This record gives sequence, structure tokens and C-alpha cells, in this order.
Amino acid sequence: MAHWPIMKSIAGFIIPKFEGCIVEIGAGHSSRVLNELAVQFKRDFYSCDVIDRTNGKLSLYHHQKIMKSVDFMQEWDSYNEKPTIVFIDGTHKYDTTKLEFWFFYKRLVPGGAMFMHDMLPASDGYIKRGCGDVYKLRLELEKDPNIEILTFPHATVEFGMSVVFKKHRYNNYSPPGEHYDY
Ligand SMILES: C[S@@+](CC[C@H](N)C(=O)[O-])C[C@H]1O[C@@H](n2cnc3c(N)ncnc32)[C@H](O)[C@@H]1O
Repeated sequence: MAHWPIMKSIAGFIIPKFEGCIVEIGAGHSSRVLNELAVQFKRDFYSCDVIDRTNGKLSLYHHQKIMKSVDFMQEWDSYNEKPTIVFIDGTHKYDTTKLEFWFFYKRLVPGGAMFMHDMLPASDGYIKRGCGDVYKLRLELEKDPNIEILTFPHATVEFGMSVVFKKHRYNNYSPPGEHYDY
């Protein structure tokens, strides 16, 4: 599926630099893309959806969680994992997505990234036809001085894809010792 090239390429740069697993809420074609990265970089991949959208496990690395995201988050800490890439494309509702975002952002490894779909629908029609009101979260995050957010309007249909990068300590994106102070 040619729909997720931005997520695939940005995540492909980040994963090899940082330890951690891959998480997805809202499975489907995106699961195949994330699973390819999981296999390539030998990382655990947790995908959560209320239904089986992938027809079973996609690889040895794939942990399929068929449940609501609220239950997934309740279990999460017992997995003893740290995410380096998180993709949120579940309910498309502002309230749920906000909870999912902050839950995983707090647990994300420094240097990791959160991807969120449907954050910049091309029109009101798109909002009514499926994107929902999750774009309100983008408006909120854009005002937060501690959040580094980038939004691609045309990534994966005209629904918009945002990516939030979690900074390392001292405001850098690289681990200590791997950056230069210019
Ligand atoms: C837009 S689709 C995901 C599309 C997918 N990312 C793809 O690439 O095809 C949204 C998915 O979220 C799932 N979903 C809806 N509410 C959910 C919830 N509370 N927890 C987990 N998954 C949910 C739906 O079952 C649906 O499969």
C-alpha cells in the first residue's frame, strides 16, 4: 500500500538509532508497513484493534492485541516494553486520541516519534466522513512549547499525518555523546 511512505521512511531513520518497540492503535494496511520495519530491525511490534484487521499475526515480532485501546493501555506496563515508534489511527475521536497520545508520549524513548493520522483533513466533508475531530489535538499540540510537531497535509489520502518527535535530554535529539554543539 503506497499510503504510508512518510511514516515508513521517517520511522526507518529513527528505529535503528534508538532501542524500543513499535506500537500501533488502529490496524490495517499500516500494520503491514510497521511489521516490515519490525522484521527489518528485529523489534517487537504491538498492534491494537477491536477487530482482527490483519488476519492473524504478521510475523514472529507481531503481538496482536484484539481489544479496545483503553484496555491495551491498562495492560501496557505489564509488557515491560518501551516504544520508539507509536502510530495512532483508532477511534478518530479527540478525547480518546488525546488519552492515547499522552499515555504513549510519556513512555516513548527520547528520540522516538509518535505518528497520528487524520490530523489535517482537507475539508469539513472529510471531518464528517471519517476523520472525526482528532485534528483538535493537533491544534492543541501546536500551541505546546514543549512539543515538536510536524504535519504532512497529503500523507495518506488528504487526511493529514502529524509526527511528534520526543527530544532527548538537553533539547537534543541524539543520545549524549552523539551530537555536536555548533
Ligand atoms: C481508520 S481504521 C485504521 C486504518 C489502518 N491504520 C490502515 O492502515 O488501514 C481505524 C481502526 O481503529 C479501530 N478502532 C476503533 N476504535 C478503537 C478502539 N477504541 N480501540 C482500538 N481500536 C479501535 C477500528 O476497528 C479500525 O480498524
